[in-house]
Amino acid sequence: MATEDAFKVTSLRDKVALITGASSGIGAATSVLFAKLGARLALNGRDVENLADVARQCADRGAEPLLVPGDLTDDETVRKTVERTVAHFGRLDVLVNSAGILAMGSIETTDLEQYDKVMNVNVRSVYHLTHLCVPHLIRTKGSIVSVSSVNGQRSFPGVLAYCMSKSAIDQFTRCVALELASKQVRVNSVCPGVIITEVHKRAGLDADEYAKFLERCKTTHALGRPGEADEVAHAIAFLASDAATFITGVNLPVDGGRHAMCPR
Ligand SMILES: NC(=O)c1ccc[n+]([C@@H]2O[C@H](COP(=O)([O-])OP(=O)(O)OC[C@H]3O[C@@H](n4cnc5c(N)ncnc54)[C@H](OP(=O)(O)O)[C@@H]3O)[C@@H](O)[C@H]2O)c1
Repeated sequence: MATEDAFKVTSLRDKVALITGASSGIGAATSVLFAKLGARLALNGRDVENLADVARQCADRGAEPLLVPGDLTDDETVRKTVERTVAHFGRLDVLVNSAGILAMGSIETTDLEQYDKVMNVNVRSVYHLTHLCVPHLIRTKGSIVSVSSVNGQRSFPGVLAYCMSKSAIDQFTRCVALELASKQVRVNSVCPGVIITEVHKRAGLDADEYAKFLERCKTTHALGRPGEADEVAHAIAFLASDAATFITGVNLPVDGGRHAMCPR
């Protein structure tokens, strides 16, 4: 491969990226990888200590991130997050929507409170943040990568609101991709399988249940294991980079083949 091509694949040099969910899991791994690849970063999360820790890891790799902490279900926080990012860097090239929550519950056991909570974080805040970022992304012919899930493409019992929220993100991705294509803004999502992060424990699995859940991934994922946050981060970096300039409207599985499986 010519040096120029290799550079295209691996570089996010000087792209300004706003990453949500940057304080943990997939968003944190994406932040550190983006720093390695030369991006300039604005990082959102609620846990300020964790966010500062991720920022230190980014700084070790040459980036000095702007921290824009806060709860994205708060409209004013969303507005300030975009304002502060653009005021600081003067531009925005990439939006990564990784903030999200999982909640357990079926049509029989869930309630509207859970539905509202999941939809507010996983869908409404993404809709709002993206809406406010789009004018800036049009100026730079930038791109958006949202973190969806295999739960958006395939159906699973017992995580109803979550599955619905991720289907909404996949449809959002494809619709917005068409809406912004003429302006050369690319819009894609990644759809991870089970990735080792905090999300399942936060949704209520205790240590024992989590260990069993990860063990089961050996059979629920074709590649025979759960994934690592860094493996999703690499897919996000690819879609955000100039290596993917002809890719838009894609919901990319990063799930060890789980989306292709039919249990028998
Ligand atoms: N792990 C998996 O197996 C898996 C699979 C498919 C899809 N995903 C998706 O991947 C994304 C990242 O999840 P993860 O696995 O990395 O989980 P995680 O380790 O629990 O991280 C979730 C991130 O979202 C942030 N967040 C949650 N609610 C927020 C809110 N109201 N306002 C602002 N930030 C908020 C958290 O911030 P604080 O920690 O600072 O509160 C944290 O940074 C989610 O969209 C999730 O649905 C995960």
